[in-house]
Amino acid sequence: MTGRVDGRVDGKVALVTGAASGIGHATARALGREGARVYVTDINIDAGRAVADEIGGTFIHLDVTDEAAWMDVMNAVGESETCLDILVNNAGISPHDSMEKFELDTWRHVHSVVSESVALGCKHGLGLLRQSEAGAIVNLSSIAGMIGSSNYASYGAAKAGVRNMTKSVAMLCAERGYPVRANSVHPGSIDTPILDADKKKYGERAITAREKVIPLGRLGQAHEVANAILFLASDEASFITGTELIVDGGFTAR
Ligand SMILES: NC(=O)c1ccc[n+]([C@@H]2O[C@H](COP(=O)([O-])OP(=O)(O)OC[C@H]3O[C@@H](n4cnc5c(N)ncnc54)[C@H](O)[C@@H]3O)[C@@H](O)[C@H]2O)c1
Repeated sequence: MTGRVDGRVDGKVALVTGAASGIGHATARALGREGARVYVTDINIDAGRAVADEIGGTFIHLDVTDEAAWMDVMNAVGESETCLDILVNNAGISPHDSMEKFELDTWRHVHSVVSESVALGCKHGLGLLRQSEAGAIVNLSSIAGMIGSSNYASYGAAKAGVRNMTKSVAMLCAERGYPVRANSVHPGSIDTPILDADKKKYGERAITAREKVIPLGRLGQAHEVANAILFLASDEASFITGTELIVDGGFTAR
């Protein structure tokens, strides 16, 4: 069940990063279904184009770690649109490492893709978002950004950064009177291709071990996170800014 069609973001202009796969794909689909014009961005050109074709959106190649590319993308959107209403900073990677065994290069790369990218998106998105009547930034963090994890050290640290910078951009917009809200979403274990490396390494155990510790007894689905993102991006969340929405089947409620 992916939800009814109610025009919840009718006429809005949305940009989703990492929209070629998983949660980003489901989010682009949900926003498109609910009436937004969606800019689908990713480094994966073929899959990104396929998503844009599927939802009637526009594909733009964007490596979220590249500041100049962010400026180009916002200029391109600004040539066709008067504003940007919704920015979903979703692109990410999640390699394993630990605080006793991490490679500094990998640590920096993870921070670049997971955290600096979101900072760049907020920085370069704000110009067009400020032109919106009711703008919204939704940043994908993770429960790994809220609780410790022995095998996601760099990822958890980067996602914690996303959680905090979301509050910083929310406060900036509120204090300056920009019509832009900003919130973070914190998924638990969601069944998307990001888990493929674990599945390859550990087989079915990668899933059953996760399911055992989730109170709802299963992994989440991408559309269940997309529904949370859609809510925060829509005007239904008009008095919600600087907060965090956990979508984890109860994992962190224990
Ligand atoms: N799936 C989960 O269990 C889970 C849990 C918590 C948080 N998240 C977060 O949700 C977001 C989406 O993850 P997903 O599970 O859909 O993963 P996914 O692997 O299915 O999708 C990630 C997308 O990001 C893109 N991407 C990677 N590096 C990029 C770059 N430099 N520039 C642009 N695009 C890039 C990939 O091409 C891919 O399309 C990520 O930020 C992830 O950390 C996922």
